[in-house]
Amino acid sequence: VAAEKNGYDHFMLKEIYEQPKAIRDTIAGRINGGVNLDKVLIDRQLLVDARNVTIVACGTAYHAGLVGKYIIESVARIPVEVDIASEFRYRNPLVDEKTLMVVVSQSGETADTLAALREARSKGAKVFAITNVLGSSIAREADSVLYTLAGPEIAVASTKAYTTQLAAMNFLALALAEARGTLGQTEIQTIAEAMQALPAQIEEILKQADKVKEVTEAIKEWENLFYIGRSVDYAVAMEGSLKLKEISYIHAEAYAAGELKHGTLALITEGIPVIALATQEQVLDKTISNIQEVRARGAHIIAVAQEGNKEIANYADVVLTVPRTHPVLTPLLAVVPLQLLAYYTAVVRGCDVDKPRNLAKSVTVE
Ligand code: G6P
Repeated sequence: VAAEKNGYDHFMLKEIYEQPKAIRDTIAGRINGGVNLDKVLIDRQLLVDARNVTIVACGTAYHAGLVGKYIIESVARIPVEVDIASEFRYRNPLVDEKTLMVVVSQSGETADTLAALREARSKGAKVFAITNVLGSSIAREADSVLYTLAGPEIAVASTKAYTTQLAAMNFLALALAEARGTLGQTEIQTIAEAMQALPAQIEEILKQADKVKEVTEAIKEWENLFYIGRSVDYAVAMEGSLKLKEISYIHAEAYAAGELKHGTLALITEGIPVIALATQEQVLDKTISNIQEVRARGAHIIAVAQEGNKEIANYADVVLTVPRTHPVLTPLLAVVPLQLLAYYTAVVRGCDVDKPRNLAKSVTVE
């Protein structure tokens, strides 16, 4: 219904623009100068005692899990595995009472994710759920729950649920780091403060919508294209590529930038769009050399980089910028231009943005 879209053409666009509020709501009271553990009812001893973390989810929530692995390993120094829920259950997974099992699900009703939760609990693991729906099956069956406060998400392609899942992952990472003593109070506070700045930074990115709209010119006629990135940018590339596939029906593949030369480089031809994520300072030179590899073969480069990165303009046809933040938080910003790009591309291609063919918002069958 038009009224519910508040003047936006589609729910997806409305939900993209709701992200600053969704993130603000999700971190309010939980992050202030540090992490407020009382708000999630997670057993602190479990955070201290856990030997490993296993994250299980489907679709976009799985991509949030992939980002979670980078963040948790980097700040809490504990091994993290991420698995697709429909795979996890059928390989006699190695989880036990020393595993902190994290399930991520917007709806809290995805059949495979729920089944994975049950499997893990039957093996003695404690389950921490990140979900958006109060009282959902996953929320009810988990040992503890952290709700993302994104509000109802109507569009099939997930946007604000994903970014709030990332905020929740950051919260969990900080809680683990604090409990395990892997980060000092000052560093925790730095990240917590950087999290509080995210909503305003997303507002800044949204102001570039017209520029993103222009970028669709370079990609709208293609049936194939690539997303590349290193480190946590690779996980963001996967989510960006899924968004485009789901709603514009352009086939997109996400590649770890350094892996291109081991096969995919053969597919790079004159003019093919390559969306290059380059937000990670510590691997920037390496990413730039991968951009050069594809550019030398004719690729049209659309880069996503941090503000103030002057070098990247020498290697890209277009640069979409995101404000600077702490390295573990860049995915929350870098995904936003990719959401807009998928959205506007689907619109110019005349696709049914909110209800893409063959897809459902919540998959309650295995
Ligand atoms: C469906 C939706 C995806 C979503 C996935 C997992 O496939 O189309 O957008 O990421 O299910 O859903 P969940 O509710 O568990 O996050």
